[in-house]
Amino acid sequence: MSTERNGKQKNLDDDDLDECQHDNPTFRICCIGAGYVGGPTCAIIASKCPHIQVTVVDVSAERIAAWNSDHLPLFEPGLEGIVKKIRNRNLFFSTDTKTAIREADLIFISVNTPTKSYGFGNIIGRAPDLRYVEEAARQIAHTATSNKIVVEKSTVPVKAAESIKTILKTNKQPGVSYQVLSNPEFLAEGSAISDLLAPDRVLIGGDETIEGSLAIKKLAWIYEHWVPKEKILTTNTWSSELSKLVANAFLAQRISSINTISAVCEATGASVSEVAKAVGLDSRIGNKFLNASIGFGGSCFQKDVYNLIYLAESLKLEPVAQYWLQVIKINDWQRERFAQMIVQNLFGSVSSKKIAILGFAFKKDTADTRESSSIYVCRYLLAEGASLHIYDPKVSVSRIFLDLSEQTGKTEDELREHVQIANDAYEAAKDSHALVVCTEWDEFKQLDYQLIYSTMKKPSFIFDGRLILDHDQLLSFGFNVFCIGKKPPNNQYMNQSPR
Ligand code: NAI
Repeated sequence: MSTERNGKQKNLDDDDLDECQHDNPTFRICCIGAGYVGGPTCAIIASKCPHIQVTVVDVSAERIAAWNSDHLPLFEPGLEGIVKKIRNRNLFFSTDTKTAIREADLIFISVNTPTKSYGFGNIIGRAPDLRYVEEAARQIAHTATSNKIVVEKSTVPVKAAESIKTILKTNKQPGVSYQVLSNPEFLAEGSAISDLLAPDRVLIGGDETIEGSLAIKKLAWIYEHWVPKEKILTTNTWSSELSKLVANAFLAQRISSINTISAVCEATGASVSEVAKAVGLDSRIGNKFLNASIGFGGSCFQKDVYNLIYLAESLKLEPVAQYWLQVIKINDWQRERFAQMIVQNLFGSVSSKKIAILGFAFKKDTADTRESSSIYVCRYLLAEGASLHIYDPKVSVSRIFLDLSEQTGKTEDELREHVQIANDAYEAAKDSHALVVCTEWDEFKQLDYQLIYSTMKKPSFIFDGRLILDHDQLLSFGFNVFCIGKKPPNNQYMNQSPR
């Protein structure tokens, strides 16, 4: 194995590793894909390894321009400060993929891997679309003139590294060789920086050969700049690929599990928060991811569970596929159930009623709306003829209309007849019949609900889809309060003062 250093070819061996360990100033990383994973991950690597040069490339010139501007293309707490400090020091954003590949010792593939929306049979809506990964591998093979470690950071199906290897091998320049590693990313949007700074674990999978171990060591060395050695786990490539899918499937499963219990609670008088607390205190279970809600969203959970389902189906393990399919079905059901709760309690109709939607992002502290449950709730309410006034602290107006257009098949002009975007929660709530909390933004906990109540139509309703509000206080102000996982008090509608 060899690397290109100062224009000279050199064998990659243990001496090389020693050289790295002494913060070799010429070590270069290229990351293909400047998205939610590529951008923050490389920002942390560059900030923790000042002697490593990190270049993040993307096909989207617009995205790269944003990374190089005062307005980063994505919101992530703590990210902006880090990027602005080290940008153009040892962290670069560029559209010049070829140069970045050519100069790099190690290349992360961090491109999107959406669910396939085309094809035949069970492929549509199930199988991961690997065309961006394949394209990245082809670009590397056609461009690289020296040996590289190629790291799949994108979430991929088991054995994707094999496909990358085949593409690299069959298209490579003469004399160039590759090591392909799997290094899935476990960060969560909204807490990406703290997750990257203090990960529960870093997982690296590679070939069980001398070259494979050396490549693993080299990638581990990068993380060891700030991650304790005992948290860096090495496995074979397939275990690493599968672990990422399984981790996301388990997290999604916990949300669907507690959401099934929320429905039981609403019907029986138990409180899902109390049940979750009691259950989560069992140290074998733990208290994380037991918050009942209107369902999981984001770019990963649904896609990765489908990815696992597709894998099981491909392996003819139908019961396994059916088991995981329920996780998705419960999520869809929960979103619809919440929308029905709104319609039923507004006397069976929301037609022409103004409904304030608080939160459009799939979770707090991100502007990402991919698979956001809020979009689905809005779609159901629009189908029932509601007039929506949406407020989200971070999601742009254009993004909201784009998502609703995709979901409803309506143009922005058509949507604007029924959808308005508010500048704050108070504006959204004014003259509305109901307030619907779809995202758990902290600022929604601090609103002056007494003031909001005084500006709303009577009777006034609050539907708390995230269980973040003080329901007793809201009841005392006169609101009718409905939420996931708790039977509403019987005597609502009684204390309504006319407006
Ligand atoms: P993203 O969609 O935000 O970013 C991917 C970027 O790759 C896009 O900007 C796209 O233009 C670029 N790209 C695609 N093909 C390219 C090519 N050939 N050359 C240069 N750029 C190219 O996606 P995100 O969210 O960063 O996800 C990336 C991968 O990481 C996915 O596999 C995802 O499942 C996984 N992941 C995502 C997490 C998240 O929270 N978003 C967390 C953990 C893993």
